[in-house]
Amino acid sequence: MKKPGGRLLVAGAGGFLGTTFTREAIAAGRTVAGAFYTRQPADSRTLARVVNVDLSRPAAARALLRDVKPAWVVNCAGFTSVDDCERDPERARLLNVELPQALATACAEVGAGLVHFSTDSVFDGNRGNYTEDDAPSPLNVYARTKLEGERAAIDALPDTLVIRTNFIGLSPARRTGLADWLAGSFESGQRISGFTDCVFAPLLANDLARTTMEMMTLGLYGLYHLAASDSSSKYEFARLLGAALGCDSDLVTPACVTTAGFVASRPLNTSLSPSRAESALGRRMASVSDAVAGYVALRKARGPAAINQPAEA
Ligand SMILES: NC(=O)c1ccc[n+]([C@@H]2O[C@H](COP(=O)([O-])OP(=O)(O)OC[C@H]3O[C@@H](n4cnc5c(N)ncnc54)[C@H](OP(=O)(O)O)[C@@H]3O)[C@@H](O)[C@H]2O)c1
Repeated sequence: MKKPGGRLLVAGAGGFLGTTFTREAIAAGRTVAGAFYTRQPADSRTLARVVNVDLSRPAAARALLRDVKPAWVVNCAGFTSVDDCERDPERARLLNVELPQALATACAEVGAGLVHFSTDSVFDGNRGNYTEDDAPSPLNVYARTKLEGERAAIDALPDTLVIRTNFIGLSPARRTGLADWLAGSFESGQRISGFTDCVFAPLLANDLARTTMEMMTLGLYGLYHLAASDSSSKYEFARLLGAALGCDSDLVTPACVTTAGFVASRPLNTSLSPSRAESALGRRMASVSDAVAGYVALRKARGPAAINQPAEA
């Protein structure tokens, strides 16, 4: 079991989850180093170290860990665009399989702990409420490579903490997340298509980060689902968010993901059961409404963000 304290190295520190994780870890009093490739973390001044590295290069992970000497690596890096993964399966493999494998191997060499984030998309989505014991059946390149990445990390470092999840939150510049896109659309009075056939169980990214640190402190490892205690269709989610923002929920028009014309196939119901994590933590996970309320509170505190690009709803 790894020691809970010590320096954290967040890989992908300028990404969506990496930015949130870094902020929450610093707020919790942790010393945090951040590794980025093309997007420098917004809060660089608050980090103990900021390292620019291309983790797709062979031996880059080993050199990074020997340099930074972290007690823990939190891997938020990956190739996360589902359609881009379909178009470029080699890069998907490099970033979603070989990158976590190299980080896990380097962690094993220097005695560091590893947290690796994976996705609810590893399932085929025919049923929903999936537990860690359910057999994954990925439908697209993103999901297949994420599943392979989980296995590669655990093979190289058996006490890796692998977290399958889905999250919403305030997204950094150049990476508009679902909630920011919906909120921007509501606030400018634009109509929005919401998928009625697509069900998920997202947590607020800040809650996900805090819960992950709690699990690290408890010395938990292996595979866990961190998800909301209930689930929602993306259509219902969009309406919930509109209402919580005080906007017109009727701007959301029902639509179907199956006819949306995406490059890659999407699983329909990817809701995860967080019961294993709830037992280990001794508490219930937040609900989808809690995640929405948390997001709206953060957005009101920050002010509206620019709408950069459409996200999937
Ligand atoms: N977003 C979701 O709703 C969601 C849902 C389920 C699971 N997840 C999982 O959660 C994790 C984080 O997702 P996210 O949405 O935060 O992703 P993201 O915003 O797309 O960030 C991905 C990160 O990977 C880094 N990266 C890419 N190529 C790299 C390279 N060659 N070397 C070093 N770093 C590289 C990027 O760095 P630069 O920006 O500096 O290039 C970026 O910080 C991923 O494992 C994803 O599969 C996300």
